[in-house]
Amino acid sequence: MFSKDVYINRRKKLQSRVESGIILMLGNNDSPMNYADNVYHFRQDSTFLYFFGIDLQNHAAIIDIDNNKEYLFGDDISLGHIIWMGPQPTMVEKAAQVGVENVKPMTDLTKVIGDAVKQGRKIHFNPPYRGENIMLLSDLLDVHHSKVKEMASLELTKACIAIRSVKEPCEIEEMERHMATAYKMHTTAMMMAHDGVSEQEITGVLEGVSMSGGGMVSFPIICSKRGETLHNHNHGNILRNGDLLLVDAGSESPLHYATDHTRTTAVGGKFSQRQKEIYEIVLAANDTAREATKPGITYKECHLVAARTIASGLKDLGLMKGDVDEAVAQGAHAMFFPHGLGHMLGLDVHDMEDYNDTLVGYMDEMERSSQFGLSALRLGRTLEKNWVVTNEPGIYFIPALIDTWKAEGKFTNFINYDKVETYKDFGGIRLEDDILITENGCRILGERIPITIDEVEATVKG
Ligand code: GLY
Ligand code: MN
Ligand code: MN
Repeated sequence: MFSKDVYINRRKKLQSRVESGIILMLGNNDSPMNYADNVYHFRQDSTFLYFFGIDLQNHAAIIDIDNNKEYLFGDDISLGHIIWMGPQPTMVEKAAQVGVENVKPMTDLTKVIGDAVKQGRKIHFNPPYRGENIMLLSDLLDVHHSKVKEMASLELTKACIAIRSVKEPCEIEEMERHMATAYKMHTTAMMMAHDGVSEQEITGVLEGVSMSGGGMVSFPIICSKRGETLHNHNHGNILRNGDLLLVDAGSESPLHYATDHTRTTAVGGKFSQRQKEIYEIVLAANDTAREATKPGITYKECHLVAARTIASGLKDLGLMKGDVDEAVAQGAHAMFFPHGLGHMLGLDVHDMEDYNDTLVGYMDEMERSSQFGLSALRLGRTLEKNWVVTNEPGIYFIPALIDTWKAEGKFTNFINYDKVETYKDFGGIRLEDDILITENGCRILGERIPITIDEVEATVKG
């Protein structure tokens, strides 16, 4: 946990941004894997963690804006719980750790919210994403569960986004410290990328590196030689020399801040000429996008810089043709780069996306494009100092997409389908870094994980 003042200040900022009423924040509870006592690793709700810091089950909190009071709800644990799960601080102690003055038992939450509803007071809450909390809100507000999400408070959500987007020095320190674990995960994967090793074996080791380094993985590991499937969670293949292994993996720091990196490695440590050519284009896109990434520029423009670098490189190889700017404007490059350049990173790997990814990434500044490829860009807004984002350009040869577009005769003026046909067995390459927006530009957080062809080949070979 950060110091008490961090949480007090965050709540003060929130209070100043929400005009009136009651802010209700629900913590998460345990989720059963297969029966009630056999649970997944507990993960606290990120908003609750951010404003109230308590990383434990069965808590809720209220900020009463009109009366300037804060309440923490929860129960001291029973002797039975202590016997099985060990001791915990009391509710009063936990509240004191994060600077909350008032403590109430969980059963009081129904009455407090019920009374506020009767008085016609506004209850602000963020859109819930877990079934248990949707049901709890349904009971507290006395509305059908299907209506709960639409009652979420846009005013509160926008306030939370505005505050959480800008990372505090203590958050940046925590994130930067944990980059050492990300480095170890990815260099370990590279060192294991040899003929005969299974994807599953590498995935298991990476999960272990994450756990040993501080916390669970920040999202299910993508570790596959079929890198053209963007979020490939199957780990059933055996690696062979000549394959490309795409590893997109991250870890949660002890305070639950995410890392999120992708590297693509030549199995056995020697990229072929064809692999090198595509790899260098993705690396150039990563470089040009990072050079563009700075306060005051829209992230949409950074994305387009990467897209133009990719289209231009593919044109040099004869895979694309025609005017590069026009190809990108029309979205032809998206056959090879169908996702966005990146997203915000923080307590969540796609930070705050439980609120709504379009709201987080676009707020009121611009409309999200509906064009294939650009529509997948989760962040379009103007960048600000002390935001943390990922930059993750990629090039993929997705047979189903190639076949469909070719059959439709799509973008025949920009795509050389005859040449693309010869790459249908290629797979995919993505190169992802975690980036802090600074005063005048940006910088990569932590020591950069090997990324040039020479660095990757040398790491594989040990
Ligand atoms: N790992 C998911 C992503 O890179 O966005
Ligand atoms: Mn990733
Ligand atoms: Mn990412």
